Amino acid sequence: MSEASPFLPVNLTGKRVVVTAGANGIGKSISEGYQSCGASVFVCDIDEAAVSNTLLENANMHGCVTDVSNVDAVNAMFNQVERELGGVDILVNNAGIAGPTAGITEILSDELHATFATDLESMFHCARCSVPFMRSAGEGCIINLSSVAGRLSFALRTPYSAAKWGVIGFTKSLALELGPEKIRVNAIQPGHVNTERFRRVTAIKAKAVGSTQKEIEADFLSVVAMRETVETTDIANTALFLSSEYGAAITGQAISVCKGVEMMR
Ligand SMILES: NC(=O)c1ccc[n+]([C@@H]2O[C@H](COP(=O)([O-])OP(=O)(O)OC[C@H]3O[C@@H](n4cnc5c(N)ncnc54)[C@H](O)[C@@H]3O)[C@@H](O)[C@H]2O)c1
Repeated sequence: MSEASPFLPVNLTGKRVVVTAGANGIGKSISEGYQSCGASVFVCDIDEAAVSNTLLENANMHGCVTDVSNVDAVNAMFNQVERELGGVDILVNNAGIAGPTAGITEILSDELHATFATDLESMFHCARCSVPFMRSAGEGCIINLSSVAGRLSFALRTPYSAAKWGVIGFTKSLALELGPEKIRVNAIQPGHVNTERFRRVTAIKAKAVGSTQKEIEADFLSVVAMRETVETTDIANTALFLSSEYGAAITGQAISVCKGVEMMR
């Protein structure tokens, strides 16, 4: 007997989807989710090996190596998207880096700029390229990955938290701007997701505060209502729901998928 699909069984046949940073972690799960729902999927990532593997594993997927913090690279990517998919109906702005873990006096301006450029400015670049295609199609859907750190305070991670709060301002304002054109814009705010990144972040925090990674993970989860991490498929399924006919009345919203995070450690 074949294994059941972990993805929501919505029909997105004919939809053309771009997922930034779609070759690892949450983005990869989102890309595979859209593909399982019949959409044509284009992924980009700066990790060349991960892009190659993702395209090898998913024969019908399109993709390229692109740094989405670079506006010229994003423009070139959307030219390729137009050649290969003919346009964009759904954009998932997933790319995001953790940024520095440090007190305000220790943050370097290069690290600050890199965090804002990847986590926030990239979303402007990709939306600017996608919206003309959505206008031609008469509708569209944009999903921006924020974080529970874009809803709560996060000491020692101020650049990341500020960028992720910025994503919410971008989402709500763009939703109001594009609503009359039937282009919906929403944000997903994941909690602690069971990924390599979660383990990287907890390892760095452990070093910063002189603790062990195990203690930091337990500490992070001690203030989560359900005391567990979220799976990447939980995030992917929320994106699929928002993109489907069932999410057609939802725009300008920030949806937490976090098993109940009300405090960041
Ligand atoms: N993992 C979590 O616990 C968590 C929690 C809340 C929010 N998020 C958000 O979800 C999104 C995905 O997170 P993840 O955990 O899958 O991260 P990840 O670190 O596992 O993967 C991120 C991917 O982004 C790519 N990338 C980095 N900079 C890029 C750039 N400039 N251009 C293109 N690709 C780039 C990396 O190569 C990597 O493949 C991010 O926006 C992140 O902030 C994650």
